Amino acid sequence: QAASSLQQLCEPSSCSDGEYADIDWNNLGFGLTPTDYMYTMKCSKDENFKQGQVRRYGNIELSPSAGVLNYGQGLFEGIKAYRRENGRLFLFRPDQNAIRMQIGAERMCMISPSIEQFVHAVKETALANRRWIPPPGKGSLYIRPLLIGSGAILGLAPSPEYTFLIYASPVGNYFKEGTAPLNLYVEDEFHRASRGGAGGVKSITNYAPALKAQSKAQNGGFSDVLYLDAVNKRNIEEASSCNIFMVKDNVVSTPATAGTILEGITRRSIIDIARDLGYQVEERSIPVEELIDAEEVFCTGTAVGVAPVGSITYQGKRVEYEMGTQLVCGKLHSTFAGIQRGTVEDKRGWI
Ligand code: COI
Repeated sequence: QAASSLQQLCEPSSCSDGEYADIDWNNLGFGLTPTDYMYTMKCSKDENFKQGQVRRYGNIELSPSAGVLNYGQGLFEGIKAYRRENGRLFLFRPDQNAIRMQIGAERMCMISPSIEQFVHAVKETALANRRWIPPPGKGSLYIRPLLIGSGAILGLAPSPEYTFLIYASPVGNYFKEGTAPLNLYVEDEFHRASRGGAGGVKSITNYAPALKAQSKAQNGGFSDVLYLDAVNKRNIEEASSCNIFMVKDNVVSTPATAGTILEGITRRSIIDIARDLGYQVEERSIPVEELIDAEEVFCTGTAVGVAPVGSITYQGKRVEYEMGTQLVCGKLHSTFAGIQRGTVEDKRGWI
């Protein structure tokens, strides 16, 4: 099916391109490089998604009164496609993104694609854009599924139509620091989410409000913000684009999600890997003061990967952390990357 829909869409000139797109693979950051194709599928509020299609990448048309434009009825996901040394292409746990989109759609009163439709669409998009999947070790193709309320609506209500679309871009490191340790700033004025809100799902509405705190942190020379809980301003939650972990006495701890923290797929994978490697893992409330005594701190996310934190600044005090591949973060990262590269057994079928 993928091949036939692609055959119809490919002009001979674009399909005879070489194995790789003609870009500088050595300098990928996390910017948008538009690729050849995207995927779209629509349904009305009284039905389920049926058949989508791969089409040329380009702008989409929306009513000015689309639910997503007026009331932020939208979700997004992030998935990476990689190329191995043996030339094989793979995706990392796309079924988990499908499940997370379904949970988010329920929270945002939207219709979502089935897990099979979602994964099939991600595969079609990755294959259609395969010449944009970087050479091994140079990065990945970041695949961005969106579910939006595309139907016109004036009063506040669920949109009468939904569009599921996917586009992709080759990417390298998320932060401008590259693989260097991150410097986080603990934010106690702005909050990311509160109990009963939508912080636990990947709603587009969680991200624009984070921009002000993010730019405040960046203007102060920091990589990103670390948020505190909105009730007591005491427990750490997450950064604006990734989850957070700390290590002390070989115990790996991360904030329990409980509705205000995104259920990260990399977060869950690192928890599983840490337990496999014999570490005790705790998902719990972590008071910000505990960071002062932590031995290591690191962030996880699809875009970010597993990124060591070099320092955290809270109320004018800066705490610095250990670094090194022999430390817990380094071991977790190398196991995670090894599963992706195929040098560590993929015993849970994540690839
Ligand atoms: C991801 O890690 O894929 C995300 O969605 C975070 C985003 C802010 C880039």
